[in-house]
Amino acid sequence: MKRLRIAVQKSGRLSEISLELLKECGIDVKNGRAQLVASASNFPLDILYLRDDDIPQYVEDGVADLGILGENVVVESRANIDIIKRLDFGRCRLSLAVPKAVDYQGLEYFQDRKVATSYPNILNDYLSANGITSEVHVISGSVEIAPNIGLADAICDIVSTGSTLLSNGLKEVESIFRSEAVLVSRKGLDTEGANILQKLLFRLDSVRAAKSNKYVVLNAPNDSIEAITQVLPGMKSPTVVPLATEGWSAIHSVLNEEKFWDIIDDLKAAGAQGILVVPIEKMII
Ligand code: PRP
Ligand code: ZN
Repeated sequence: MKRLRIAVQKSGRLSEISLELLKECGIDVKNGRAQLVASASNFPLDILYLRDDDIPQYVEDGVADLGILGENVVVESRANIDIIKRLDFGRCRLSLAVPKAVDYQGLEYFQDRKVATSYPNILNDYLSANGITSEVHVISGSVEIAPNIGLADAICDIVSTGSTLLSNGLKEVESIFRSEAVLVSRKGLDTEGANILQKLLFRLDSVRAAKSNKYVVLNAPNDSIEAITQVLPGMKSPTVVPLATEGWSAIHSVLNEEKFWDIIDDLKAAGAQGILVVPIEKMII
């Protein structure tokens, strides 16, 4: 049977959580990251552990069919691959940062200055769109130390929590690109491959739906059921089951977590009691 190869980051910000996501999709990956390739035992997928910067090229070349990586890396690479889905994790921004002591007044600061980065394409596009010319130095790792060793006046790098900048005495002054983890695919998957991708996407959607929804259980007097079902729609409609206590029912429903806080007062006003909010593991819509 045909299998797809998915490339994930071997080590770094996205690696743990990428594997965790596959696991939440019910995909069992036995071998650890010590090997370059691992096989899923219960899904037609092989996992390739790679440096994130290498993933776009591998996917373009068809060495991997799919990949999970930061959109920043995809855009910088200019690889001819498709972004299939945003994955809702690994949010970060690509920012310009300068030494803390600099009295930063605006973008003109960067005119003719040295900027170290691993993202020359995105940076150059941004600078030229803003009419600024800088001396861009491409460094592949540890960009944040460049100003301290006199290699550059500023850097352009990924900021997530901001702790890397802080511990290197730098401050973020312009954010030039926002990113999150994405699922990418090579061009021209055959029918069998496309079917496997569809199965994976279906699971990813179920996991995401489950994460943003909660299972709500509450008790209410029977004459409140009508009012409560108005504010608590559920997937089709809520389940109503009688309680042992005469005249009372339990109402079960599924609700977007954000909406829950908006309607909690309405529920209580309508007579709901003993409200439980329970996480959902998978949700098939
Ligand atoms: C980025 C960046 C910093 C770090 C910033 O690396 O180069 O090292 O994340 O995160 P922080 O603001 O939370 O400190 P990334 O994980 O994107 O991967 P890389 O090592 O492949 O560049
Ligand atoms: Zn990288």
